[in-house]
Amino acid sequence: MTSSCEKVELLPRLLYYRQSRYFELTLEPDLVAELKVFISRDQIAKRVAEIGAQISKDFVGEPVVLIGVLKGAAILLSDLSRNISLDSSFDFISVSSYGNAKQNSGEVKMLKDVDQSMEGKNIILVEDILDTGLTLTYLSKILRAHKPKALKIAALLDKTARRLENIHADYVGFEIPDEFVVGYGMDYAERYRNLPDICIVP
Ligand code: IMP
Ligand code: MG
Repeated sequence: MTSSCEKVELLPRLLYYRQSRYFELTLEPDLVAELKVFISRDQIAKRVAEIGAQISKDFVGEPVVLIGVLKGAAILLSDLSRNISLDSSFDFISVSSYGNAKQNSGEVKMLKDVDQSMEGKNIILVEDILDTGLTLTYLSKILRAHKPKALKIAALLDKTARRLENIHADYVGFEIPDEFVVGYGMDYAERYRNLPDICIVP
């Protein structure tokens, strides 16, 4: 059976996200890149259900607030929340990581903060990938200032090899090697977020 992730045409010029800044890759004009399925929708569903069950157990009897980091975590938050049997509410936060050719500082800028105070609440920060760790370090610091009762991080993927900050996720779907991935919410220049499987960009 052919997967829906195979043979998706890429733009000839691609922006490749590395080390918290964008590098341009120029591909042969006639090259049609193929995305390879790396983690299938079934594997994702199984792991997300396990994480949901674990969170439900860890916070039994207490309400939780799931904070999704836009846009990449939208699909994970949607699936994860339906595997959590607790009194739950949602919030969303949006940041942009940026840098330029001259600067490799990996600054993070807040684009949208949470809508409510998180004081005294059990927060689960839901993120697609924990990569260098700059984004989640920045967000954890901001959310800790709200004085939550608990602050946990759930990341679907963890690229441990690329970590620049000393941060870890409490709930991790899969530890992956240093490969650029798309699908299940994750993008490549805003494309491919809707692929049901996680695919490697060659
Ligand atoms: P960090 O601040 O380096 O940990 O970056 C985390 C963010 O970088 C993620 O939320 C993604 O938006 C993006 N990112 C890192 N690696 C990938 C990837 O392989 N595919 C798509 N986005 C990625
Ligand atoms: Mg993201």
